Amino acid sequence: MSAAEEVPTYPGLVQELADRGLLTGRWRQVFEAVPRSRFVPADVWRQLPDRCEPVVGTDAWLALVNSDEPVVTQLDDGAEGGPGVATSSNSMPSMVARMLGLLDVEDRQRVLEIGTGTGYVSALLCERLGEDLVHSVELDPVVARQAAEALAQSGYRPHLRVGDGEQPWPGLGLVDRLIATCALRYVPYALLRQVRPGGIVVAPLAREFWSGALVRLQVQADGTAMGPFCGGATYMPMRAHRLPDLHDVQGRGRARAAGLDPARLLDLGFALYAGARLPRVRLIHKGAGEGVQVWVTRENGAGATAATGEEVWQYGPGFLWEEIEQVWWEYETEGRPDADQFGLTVTNRGQQVWLRDPSEVVRPSRA
Ligand SMILES: C[S@@+](CC[C@H](N)C(=O)[O-])C[C@H]1O[C@@H](n2cnc3c(N)ncnc32)[C@H](O)[C@@H]1O
Repeated sequence: MSAAEEVPTYPGLVQELADRGLLTGRWRQVFEAVPRSRFVPADVWRQLPDRCEPVVGTDAWLALVNSDEPVVTQLDDGAEGGPGVATSSNSMPSMVARMLGLLDVEDRQRVLEIGTGTGYVSALLCERLGEDLVHSVELDPVVARQAAEALAQSGYRPHLRVGDGEQPWPGLGLVDRLIATCALRYVPYALLRQVRPGGIVVAPLAREFWSGALVRLQVQADGTAMGPFCGGATYMPMRAHRLPDLHDVQGRGRARAAGLDPARLLDLGFALYAGARLPRVRLIHKGAGEGVQVWVTRENGAGATAATGEEVWQYGPGFLWEEIEQVWWEYETEGRPDADQFGLTVTNRGQQVWLRDPSEVVRPSRA
């Protein structure tokens, strides 16, 4: 940042969120009352596309904290000398505002947050509802202790627990709202059992084929839950839900012309559709927009890699790329639905993605 540029401020950030229509109802007042900087430690990192970069100096720290970017607060679960993967953060403020908006809390409602992190979301919930109605669980004891201190210094004492948020909170009883601030590969049924019928669950999901999507579920009288996807969301995963590496791929590559630009695979609507049609197919990608490279694999050793404007290489049994192209044509035939036309149903037998209506389940393309 040059000397001529002003360091961003928190009021400026709140104004930006309000201008984008993300702070409805009382949330604007709530955000104004809870400065994000109180919940960000001195040592932090900026998340770059391929790594985390340490933030050095007060101006750079303030610029990051008062911007609409995530602030990484822990690498490698706190271990020294690791690969430098972000494992805790203060989330992107616009994402926090979107999620709290979707949560649709009302006065006197009890809320459970999974992933206390820095304590910022808990503080916002305390400011909105009162600390006695806010419950938050964090797996990492060091992160949890720092959050408890930051919350107490700001005058908030919500109910905090150190433990695995995937497991029920002993003695908690039913809550009205549940917000997960770490990404889930699937919605554990045990989470729903903590929410009253009619209650709402807002969570980011990240699947083998997806880059990440928010889902807003309403718990039904029979304990199942259903609701729509609500746009993209990139969150660090719940610890036991971290995505596995690509499968090992067998055999020599076979080249062919691509019938589909691999950038299309990253469209969230298609990713939701293809993820349901091709379960357990894993995808990773590099780049965005003009030049994308993707790698896809399946547990039987099949694989494919494709880059914009180049030939596709396929490996192992079958023709994985042809399958993906086939699913793309199906998606086209459906009218290329946007992500928000998809939804999710969660029962005690697992979860299913649907398109437009809960009865229109997108089933796997093969057994
Ligand atoms: C993006 S951060 C949460 C941000 C937080 N809401 C805030 O306001 O700063 C995700 C957090 O989820 C925590 N986490 C991961 N797996 C968890 C689990 N099984 N139970 C509870 N917390 C978990 C991580 O340790 C991390 O601190």
